[in-house]
Amino acid sequence: MGYSEIAAEAKADPEGYWMKAAEGIDWVTPPSKALFDENAPLYEWYADGTLNACWNAVDRHVEAGHGERVAIIHDSPITHSKREISFVELRNRVANLAGALKAKGVEKGDRVIIYMPMIPEALEAMLACARIGAVHSVVFGGFAAHELAVRIDDCTPKCIIAASCGLEPGRVVHYKPLLDGAIEQATHKPDFCVIFQREQEVAKLTEGRDVNWHGFQYGVEAAECVLVEGNHPLYILYTSGTTGQPKGVVRHTGGHSVALNWTMRNLYDMNPGEVFWAASDVGWVVGHSYICYGPLTYGCTTIVFEGKPVGTPDAGTFWRVIQDHKVKCLFTAPTAFRAIKREDSNGDLIGKYDMSSLESLFLAGERADPDTIVWAQDKLGVPVIDHWWQTETGWAIAGNPLGIEALPVKVGSPSVAMPGWDVQILDEGGHPLPAGELGAIAAKLPLPPGTLPTLWNAEDRFLKSYLEHFPGYYETGDAGYKDEDGYLYIMARTDDVINVAGHRLSTGAMEEVLASHPDVAECAVIGVADALKGQMPMGFLCLNSGTQKAAEDVVADCVKLVRDQIGPVAAFKLATVVQRLPKTRSGKILRATMVKIANGEEFKMPATIDDPAILDEIAEALKEIGYPR
Ligand code: COA
Ligand code: AMP
Repeated sequence: MGYSEIAAEAKADPEGYWMKAAEGIDWVTPPSKALFDENAPLYEWYADGTLNACWNAVDRHVEAGHGERVAIIHDSPITHSKREISFVELRNRVANLAGALKAKGVEKGDRVIIYMPMIPEALEAMLACARIGAVHSVVFGGFAAHELAVRIDDCTPKCIIAASCGLEPGRVVHYKPLLDGAIEQATHKPDFCVIFQREQEVAKLTEGRDVNWHGFQYGVEAAECVLVEGNHPLYILYTSGTTGQPKGVVRHTGGHSVALNWTMRNLYDMNPGEVFWAASDVGWVVGHSYICYGPLTYGCTTIVFEGKPVGTPDAGTFWRVIQDHKVKCLFTAPTAFRAIKREDSNGDLIGKYDMSSLESLFLAGERADPDTIVWAQDKLGVPVIDHWWQTETGWAIAGNPLGIEALPVKVGSPSVAMPGWDVQILDEGGHPLPAGELGAIAAKLPLPPGTLPTLWNAEDRFLKSYLEHFPGYYETGDAGYKDEDGYLYIMARTDDVINVAGHRLSTGAMEEVLASHPDVAECAVIGVADALKGQMPMGFLCLNSGTQKAAEDVVADCVKLVRDQIGPVAAFKLATVVQRLPKTRSGKILRATMVKIANGEEFKMPATIDDPAILDEIAEALKEIGYPR
């Protein structure tokens, strides 16, 4: 069957379609039905089945006789090391870690925060939690202590598992002081912390609170997989919303395992035993779905890569990894390719490696610009597939399902809605728009398995953020259009979220930090176009009258403040002082107009603008910092 038939089947009989897909997973008690819609518009999938996500990702492959197959390859150009872990080794390591967590009182439903870099132990920690039914919440290593503290208070973990350090090119990221600072700032205190000591840095443990990763496993009994219900939360992953309070996306066990297993075959065209590489980070949803759970559940080998596309040591690193580990499918963000293209525009380094194993490249996380796609197609000679998804959805809303049928690629479009998704372009009133017209992108409820059922401890926020604006739909927060063939084009966010190097960031959160500076009276943060990172945050600061401090000192303070409060990943380096901010007569800051001026794009004078002269002042201030570029 081709894509159209499968999509039609999933639409006509979702119950039958997703019950069949559920057969790809080991259940202890199979679910009595797929969709649980009793509490619509809140939906759950496979709620009454019982299973274990760690069993499905690890143990079942050992039981099936594939224990010697490689589960995880750690490739770290930063530490010049490579290491392989087989499924049976992984099972043993995870069972021991899970046993030690259990012995310290971690039980089904307890939360565990994981704050670790790209090392296999990060996946082992996730899987150990899943094994005993604990709910993990991985926090990206590029976030500062304050962001970690906010997450600690929101999900109130019994335990935090951290590494002593992370390694960025030329810089050791000292995790322990960040962890200690976060715990000090947070109101909630974990019972204990497990610290994995890396050889690059041994951290000082806090007596009575911290235990050593290896030491606390000594002599404990390995843990068996605990049965959980299909609707048991496997993890919480925080993502940026419009405010400084991140949204805790909840992922249920059953739908997640089924959906990811389905995508490995149908979307990525993988077979068990083959090598899949998502060059992302475990702290992002791509890392959860396609470094950890997806490939492992399907019996593929996954790569944990600790490095960057350029500079570790050069723009040929990706090709070297593909050659050394016979990668069949590479998944990364367009930024990574823009970085490589900038360093090696002719692709000379590609020719130095044997890339014959590579069959496809998938891109996601931000808009894939046509230049980058065409360059990758030309240089790699394999299908380059843009696909569109979000932390909330856990897997692709739209893509080109290579395992079903390779549809024609249209550069600039992440192709078509995946089976199970009914994607519509809506006008402000919630009416579907015809092909070619730009509108809000929404998906008809219920969403397919694996997508978010709610936000952690914030059901009202879930309803308000996603379901209220367009009743009967999930509002994606993206705007775009569909063409006559049903291909989607994702153009922009409809909220204050920006995308910097494939990292989703909240301008609202940055504004909250800037506003806390004693000399800042008012501020706005926008995302300006950037040739490498897609977007970069830029701050506009209005100072209190009578401020003694020089403007450049306030700017320097603010840059440091965002780095200290949100983290280096915010990449907040551009800011300028202005007298006033452009606003509508009702006081709304005209951010979209400021973006246009900063990017040097044409714009229409907003009809509701209070004082058009302020736009000239903004243009003047931008000119002083070299914008538009
Ligand atoms: N821990 C601590 N700090 C981190 C970090 C981590 N895990 N990841 C990034 N940072 C830091 C970087 O060191 C950098 O700090 P600096 O300001 O001191 O230089 C800052 O956060 C910004 O990082 P990044 O946006 O990654 O920029 P970069 O200049 O270091 O690298 C690219 C540019 C294009 C090479 C890089 O962004 C990249 O590889 N992008 C791929 C995107 C990706 O995988 N996205 C995931 C979604 S699929
Ligand atoms: P995240 O939750 O971090 O995965 O970010 C999700 C957001 O990134 C989406 O809502 C989009 O704005 C953007 N995004 C992700 N993939 C794509 C894509 N293929 N094309 C355009 N935008 C994308």
